[in-house]
Amino acid sequence: GDFAGEKVLRGTGGEVHQVANGKRKPLTTAQGAPVSDDQNSLKAGRRGPTLLEDQHFREKIFHFDHERIPERVVHARGFGAHGYFETYESLSDITAADLFLRPGEKTDVFVRFSTVAGNKGSADLARDVRGFAVKFYTKEGNWDIVGNNIPVFFIQDAIKFPDLIHAAKQEPDRGFPQAQTAHDNFWDFISLTPESINMALWIMSDRTIPRSFRFMEGFGVHTFRFVNAEGKSTFVKFHWKPKQGMQSVVWNEAVKLNGADPDFHRRDLWDAIKMGDHPEWELGLQLFDEDFVDKFDFDVLDATKIIPEEEVPVKPVGRMVLNRCVDNFFAETEQVAFHTGNLVPGIDFTNDPLLQGRNFSYLDTQLSRLGSTNFTHLPVNAPRCPFHHFQQDGHMAFHNPVGRANYEPNSWSGEEGGPREDPKNGFASHPEVVEGEKGRIRSETFADHYSQARQFYISQTDVEQGHIASAFTFELSKVQTPEIRARIVAHLRNVDEDLAKQVADGLRLKKMPEPIEAAMPTKTDLKA
Ligand code: HEM
Repeated sequence: GDFAGEKVLRGTGGEVHQVANGKRKPLTTAQGAPVSDDQNSLKAGRRGPTLLEDQHFREKIFHFDHERIPERVVHARGFGAHGYFETYESLSDITAADLFLRPGEKTDVFVRFSTVAGNKGSADLARDVRGFAVKFYTKEGNWDIVGNNIPVFFIQDAIKFPDLIHAAKQEPDRGFPQAQTAHDNFWDFISLTPESINMALWIMSDRTIPRSFRFMEGFGVHTFRFVNAEGKSTFVKFHWKPKQGMQSVVWNEAVKLNGADPDFHRRDLWDAIKMGDHPEWELGLQLFDEDFVDKFDFDVLDATKIIPEEEVPVKPVGRMVLNRCVDNFFAETEQVAFHTGNLVPGIDFTNDPLLQGRNFSYLDTQLSRLGSTNFTHLPVNAPRCPFHHFQQDGHMAFHNPVGRANYEPNSWSGEEGGPREDPKNGFASHPEVVEGEKGRIRSETFADHYSQARQFYISQTDVEQGHIASAFTFELSKVQTPEIRARIVAHLRNVDEDLAKQVADGLRLKKMPEPIEAAMPTKTDLKA
């Protein structure tokens, strides 16, 4: 018969069978055996029970039953795309990293943008930080900048991360809100964690409701190190500056968009790339040395502080273009595994205690999320340069050692002997001198919780300041515990009295709370 323009066979119950021919490939099982009938399970008699020996049916259902993997514990909702990074000029005086050595050098990248708190199916326009994670497939291995669209973070030490995320995500008894920061647990945690106040100002700004991923900045947040071929180290902060400019929506638009099109941001990126309107960002560096570190008011290892661009200008060193959508969302966007620990020779860590904790967390969570130590064998995660090691076996092992040797040192020569260490070109940690008492301690300036929050607030235009005051008022109006509302206002008094007053009035507080006792005085003379 003929069905929607295609020759079909009709089965015993009148069902439609589309049939393979010269143009259409035959359907097979996962083992490659051709399938004769994909509409009827194998039965004992027309009205009889389905038979256990129906291998095709069992394989099909078995595979379907296991399609879901755990979503990311944070940044569950995201959208990815491929592209390239192009180096402007050689940076060999400051880093030995191969991707920065030759002007015009192009390096493949994969980028995943995300929200933080919402579950995988949540709406794109939630008021939230956006993840901005970039994987560079360099000739000396994969390098990831696992960043956000805000240059500071909530906490100074990774030991607080589970608390922050528990407080931000849905409350454990009621299971909501699923993608909102406007709830008691979140603001309770913020109000009891003074180090998070600077970030609280940033997240109440328009940056957390971006117009699209294409109009956002990105930041590596932590201070990293560049190390050149002579072993000289320079501190570096990473910035992504959108060539499209920066744009946000207003809250009223965000609320409507969430209802009308919860996929607004993914659709925007997909459509732009498919139409050939390829978004671009410049990679910028803030570079500084120990002298700057010594005279800077804050600790460069404190992820709740920025280094003002007036003090250390951002130097553009290359551009990134996103020019290709994924072929398959699950294979690429879901299975991609970013990790702050993925570094290449010429780039190194600092002792930022938030970064040090992240370096443990990503591998660990990815084993649980992707189900096997061999997730690096997936195409989106595999290096695109040659790689040779003695890691073997485990679930889904795809690249096992070739030849006899799976250990070293060994006596076997040639191919049989496998790879060898490379003291000259291999990754070497910068030999920083480290000494000190062991203890659960922080550096003193970590205690200045308000100066940079104030600096951020006063650097905003009147309209932007108004949006920050409205956002605090709106969010706190969803908090049902009066003490929590008042505690946030008490913090804001240390940031800016006028802001505190606007929020207190908006919330109709009967009495202005006393300012929270600050661990260090707020600097009011910082340049905006
Ligand atoms: C995921 C950024 C702090 C643990 C992510 C992602 C980004 C990100 C962009 C999503 C990656 C993707 O698209 O797949 C940041 C930034 C931080 C920060 C900028 C602070 C500066 C932390 C800390 C921890 C942590 C302190 C834990 C100690 C995780 C985990 C995931 C994640 C477990 C899920 C990874 C996965 O399942 O693949 N983070 N993060 N993050 N982050 Fe962070």
